[in-house]
Amino acid sequence: MARTPIVAGNWKMHLARGAARELLTTLRANLDGLQGVEVVVCPPSPWLGDAADLLRGSTLRVGAQNVYWESHGAFTGEVSAAMLAGTVDFAIIGHSERRHVFGETDEQTQRNLRAVIDLGMQPMLAVGELRAQREDGSTNDVLRRQLLAAFQDVDRLPEGFIVAYEPVWAIGTGLTATPEIAQATCADVRAILADRFDAATAEACRIQYGGSVNAENAAILAGQPDIDGLLVGGAALQAESFTAICKAAAGAAA
Ligand code: 13P
Repeated sequence: MARTPIVAGNWKMHLARGAARELLTTLRANLDGLQGVEVVVCPPSPWLGDAADLLRGSTLRVGAQNVYWESHGAFTGEVSAAMLAGTVDFAIIGHSERRHVFGETDEQTQRNLRAVIDLGMQPMLAVGELRAQREDGSTNDVLRRQLLAAFQDVDRLPEGFIVAYEPVWAIGTGLTATPEIAQATCADVRAILADRFDAATAEACRIQYGGSVNAENAAILAGQPDIDGLLVGGAALQAESFTAICKAAAGAAA
């Protein structure tokens, strides 16, 4: 089955409003109508409305970097999935910085995932092992635990469901996983999805690789059979590199 690759730029907590608007405008000029790949930008939450306005009518989509599962209430500082639903189509769920910097538990990830699915938005469910876990051979166990916990309450995955495999040791370090490691681990993720759901669901899922993706390594990573796109951090902050990455992913899929 043909899976449409998806490249998302996770801006994390970067770019002031003016720079964000400028980047969005340039990305639209560079990438609107690009065939063979879905392109999503995930700016910081105060700029999501600007992003939706500036990209409206284009093929570029907007995603949130995180959500909170409750729809409203006394949750100071949180932004609910429900509040984001009219503005964004996608949301990153369970990013490693949520898990490891902010202490998000598997249970919180599961609730956020559920809220996003229930609202008809597309989650990008991020999973990945720490360096010590890669080194002690427990990568597969960690990924299985993260995935099964997130899916605890989910009977069926929505069409085009996205898992982002991001080895924590590769995030922001310049230490990209080799194409062989990235491919093998994304194939393992697909096998876990087949176990949990069924083979057809696993085949239809899109699995992104993330972790020090740049304009040079994007094509070889995106060209691996079980990699269906990329989740990009640092290199998503410059129009030139993010444009090149999106075009490389479109080319790799062609
Ligand atoms: P870098 O591309 O900066 O390594 O970040 C990856 C990431 O965490 C994307 O979500």
